[in-house]
Parts: sequence; structure tokens; C-alpha cells
Amino acid sequence: MMLDADDERILAGEEGETRQKMLELVVALGKVFGAERLVPIRSAQVSGASYKTIGRYGLEWLDSLDAKAVVPAILNPIGMARGRWEEMGIDPAFAQNQEKVVTAYERLGITLECTCTPYYLYETRYGDHLAWSESSAVSYANSVIGARTNREGGPSALAAALVGKTACYGLHLDKNRVPQIVLDVRADTKDWGVAEYGALGYHAGKLVGNRIPYFRGIRPEPDQLKALGAAMAATGAVALYHVDGVTPDAQKHRYDVSGIETIPVEGAEIEAVFTDIPVDAVALGCPHCSPAELAEIAKLLAGKVVAKPLYIFASQGVIDKNSRLVDSIEKTGARVFADTCMVVSPVMEQYASVMVNSGKALAYVPNMCGGKARIGTLADCIAVATEF
Ligand code: F3S
Repeated sequence: MMLDADDERILAGEEGETRQKMLELVVALGKVFGAERLVPIRSAQVSGASYKTIGRYGLEWLDSLDAKAVVPAILNPIGMARGRWEEMGIDPAFAQNQEKVVTAYERLGITLECTCTPYYLYETRYGDHLAWSESSAVSYANSVIGARTNREGGPSALAAALVGKTACYGLHLDKNRVPQIVLDVRADTKDWGVAEYGALGYHAGKLVGNRIPYFRGIRPEPDQLKALGAAMAATGAVALYHVDGVTPDAQKHRYDVSGIETIPVEGAEIEAVFTDIPVDAVALGCPHCSPAELAEIAKLLAGKVVAKPLYIFASQGVIDKNSRLVDSIEKTGARVFADTCMVVSPVMEQYASVMVNSGKALAYVPNMCGGKARIGTLADCIAVATEF
């Protein structure tokens, strides 16, 4: 692998043991995947931030490191809203350990924004190389923005943040970004919102596995693309997808998909993802809400009072910039929490069943929180949450 003089210096230990070890990790991964060179990254997003997922040994490893991030780097959602964990009913022992994890990352120069939507906070442009690790963020970066990132593990994203580079393989290369399967959506999508696109992603992920899908027959907006990609990354292992005439690489490259395996997707298959089980709570914001989604929630909640616990998750940056909307939502009794989400926080474990408007949450809540999950449109979620 080609390395420059700076890399050689770091590998010789001249910038400390942590940076040496981190670059060794980046280079070793690159060699495994046949990378010929390293590539500078514009930003990093580091998973492995919730104490629920990394536990005591993860924390000890973080504490053993001694270096600072050299590119903008943020964290994935953690197990609680940092300033409001008591209100969330989080166990004090968990909160204390979670705070130690956050402090360890802060010492490493990671910005304490804990979100799966870094693209709302950091300018991320077409063609940027990144080292992001949360699967929906990776999908959005690759597919909707046209940036380039593999799905990094927590340690490799952290390593990239500390050395400012990642190995150039996989989705960093044009040749690995071409469509591998076509999904022809034969449904009336005119009135589809985020939940329907989440349900499509939930279904499509199971059909395509880890192949790169090329959708025809849909015209999703950015929040709908976010929902589609997040769900496909949950039920499949899709880190990049294309939508005919919509996503940037599909428009730029005008891929010739004739001769590629094509699967029709009927409207009834998407309808079947929606069920009608009774629920104890409603959770929105998987992935974290955009400003437009917060506005829509505020509009639907106007003049109402919540009857069931209604959790909404967004990044602190988006919450701060939309404080009026957040205030109006919270006046109804709903809660808008930053830093965490319905999957990585233990908060949802107290409910036997949860309603969501996200295909990803539909897939993950049963596995990660133990309860049942049901998907509904945003309007249905608000109606259920406010029904006495
Ligand atoms: Fe984000 Fe949590 Fe969903 S990390 S994509 S809100 S499971």
C-alpha cells in the first residue's frame, strides 16, 4: 500500500502510541480489502457510544487511548439524553457509566453531538470521503448525498478520526458503486410519506441482502430517502442504493441496468408491513428527525394532549435550531430528546409494544428492546398517541 512520509512517521511512533496503533488498524483493514492507498476524510462518525452496547470493556479500551481527532468527528446516539436522563427514567448507575463513555470520547477530541444524522450538522458534499459507522448515516451519505464511506465499525471510525484518513477500498471506489439488482416498484406512491418508504425499505432489505439496489417507479423526497435507506440497512446490509432519476449517482452515471436481475415490488407487499397491534407508547425519530419532520409533528400535535408516552428523537443541533417547534411539541406532553434513540436507550424496554413510523425501528425494537413493534404513518402515530 502506498503511504506518504507523514504516514511513515506516525507508523514509526513519532506521534505517540495511540496514533501509531490507530494508523496500523486503518492500514491493516486496507490490506485485508486490497486498498492501494489511504484517502483523507472530511469527517468521521463513531458508533459504539452507548454504554448499552459497548459495556465495561469498551470503556476501558477508550480510556487507554491518548490522541485527538484531526477531522470533525461526532458520536452515534448514546443510551440517554445527557441533560435529561433522570426524566427519561434511566438508572443512575447506567447514567454514570454512560457519562464516562462520553467523557472518554470528549478527551479524544470527538464532538459531543450524539446523532445518526451528522449530515444535518456538518456540510457533507458529493464526492467527499468519510468514515461513518451508523448504517443509516452511511446509507444517506452514499446514496442521497453521493459522498463515499464504507460502513465503518466503531474502532475503525475512531481510528480514521484520529489519523484523518481511511483506506481507499469498497464504496470509496467507483467500480464498487454500480447497481447490482433492480427493484421495480409497482405501487401508487403518490401519497406515500416517510412510513411507507420505511416499509418499502423494510421489505426491500430482505429481498436484496447486501447487493446495491436500483429503484424504479418511486420519487422520494430527502426525508423519505432517509427512511428508505435506514430500513434497508436494517433488514439487509445495504450501504448504498440508487433511485432512478433521483439520487445523485443515478443521475450522473445513468447506469445501464438492462440485463440485471429485476424484482417487481407490488403495493400489497408494502401494505402487509403495516399491522394493527395495540401499543403502549409511540416513538418517532429513527433516524433522528429533520427540521421538516419536527415541523410536521408540531403541526399534527397542535391543540392536542398526549395520552400515551410519545418520544421524539433528534440531534441537539437540530433541536437547538428549532426550539420553538420543540417547545410547542413538548407542551402537549410529548418529549423531544437529543443524544439517544428508541433503540440504543434502555427507555423502550419498559414497554411491551411500541408504535413507530420507521422501517428501521420496526426491525430493531423487537431485537434490541424486547417488545413488539408496529409501523404506522406519522399521522396515525400522532392519532394513537393522543387517543384517550
Ligand atoms: Fe438512528 Fe437509533 Fe434509528 S441510531 S437510525 S435513531 S436506531
